[in-house]
Amino acid sequence: MIDPGHGGYDEGGRSSDGRIVENVYNLMISNKIKTLLEKEGVNAPIKHLYNSAAIADLEKKYDEVFADREELRREVEDLKNQLARNKKLNEEIAEYLKNEAVKKRKAVYGNTVFIRGLIEISNICKNDCLYCGIRCSNKTCDRYRLTKDEILSCCDEGYSLGFRTFVMQGGEDLHFTDELLIEIISEIKQKYPDCAVTLSLGERSYESYKKLYDAGADRYLLRHETADEEHYNKLHPEKMSYKTRMECLKNLKEIGFQTGCGFMVGSPYQTTENIAKDLKFIEEFSPEMCGIGPFIPHNATEFKDFPSGDVDLTCFLLSVIRLIKPTILLPATTALGTAEQGGREKGILCGANVIMPNLSPHSVRKKYELYNNKLISGNESAQEIENLKNSMKNIGYEIVTDRGDIKR
Ligand code: 5AD
Repeated sequence: MIDPGHGGYDEGGRSSDGRIVENVYNLMISNKIKTLLEKEGVNAPIKHLYNSAAIADLEKKYDEVFADREELRREVEDLKNQLARNKKLNEEIAEYLKNEAVKKRKAVYGNTVFIRGLIEISNICKNDCLYCGIRCSNKTCDRYRLTKDEILSCCDEGYSLGFRTFVMQGGEDLHFTDELLIEIISEIKQKYPDCAVTLSLGERSYESYKKLYDAGADRYLLRHETADEEHYNKLHPEKMSYKTRMECLKNLKEIGFQTGCGFMVGSPYQTTENIAKDLKFIEEFSPEMCGIGPFIPHNATEFKDFPSGDVDLTCFLLSVIRLIKPTILLPATTALGTAEQGGREKGILCGANVIMPNLSPHSVRKKYELYNNKLISGNESAQEIENLKNSMKNIGYEIVTDRGDIKR
């Protein structure tokens, strides 16, 4: 008899990203051994803990515990029923919000999905955010930066694939001075005047943002990460501050950028109250874009042992954000697609209307690893746009070739 172990309530160990569970692997290996042995003519049954005898045993124990405690038994049963009802209620609320969110997004954007070509221009970063794989203290990160010509080639390829927005994203790399960025932005705009340029390059001064805007950049993404100062300080080193982050966002908006904020769902130490504050902040700041995705641990960071954020909660929040601001540009992020296969499709079905496939040169994609197992070669790759179009079609949506500005 093969005993895989961890067949009962104890699932065994988990990998740091929480996705590989010991009991599943034990069972897979046991099944393989069983097949091999049976090929040799050996009868090798697998011992299942969840057999009827084991369940009867558990029920007996349950009865024993409550033998002289009828009242306690009733309380526990009540609690169990209440939990089941709450779970059902939560699912019903999520379903209701999802339907309302989709109604709103369809009223504004129909069934169209906007795409952005993401160019990860540098993984060199002066910051040391505790959650991020490209933080400066990660010595195992293989650093790179793209040249102006490489960035322009990404745009050439993206344009022919139908992209009309290019997002230049990178760590806070001092190599990318205002002068260099102005040169790159101007060249892209000159060559492709029908395209929007989005920047996602972290915190810079008001003057710097203004110069980049004047050079032709249209949009800027800077996630606020959390709208609670105390929580912000738990996610960032002392050198970084909540006030500076908020100041940057205010400046971007004042200068005239279409501005995007956002946060991770399930980041370490995040409470429900924190999320409520994030939603309130989004309502008040009224950004044109908002990026949210589940937190996913990176093995070279202090947060490597924290669990990933929940996909269903992320989708629920996408619906809520769509309802707070029906016109918002809301991406179904790569992190959502990484946390669960089909996660981005789920996001679109909950009210998201943007997808940002990767246009970076293949040689650097693995290096821009903000979190473990980031998707790099499937439908999130810009070159797989036909597959992405089909997968959107299958769920009733259509990818369009369009700058994809916010509808006012
Ligand atoms: N998991 C999920 N998202 C992350 N980001 C950085 N690290 C992680 C991680 N471990 C997000 C941050 C940042 C954006 C570029 O990527 O919110 O703003």
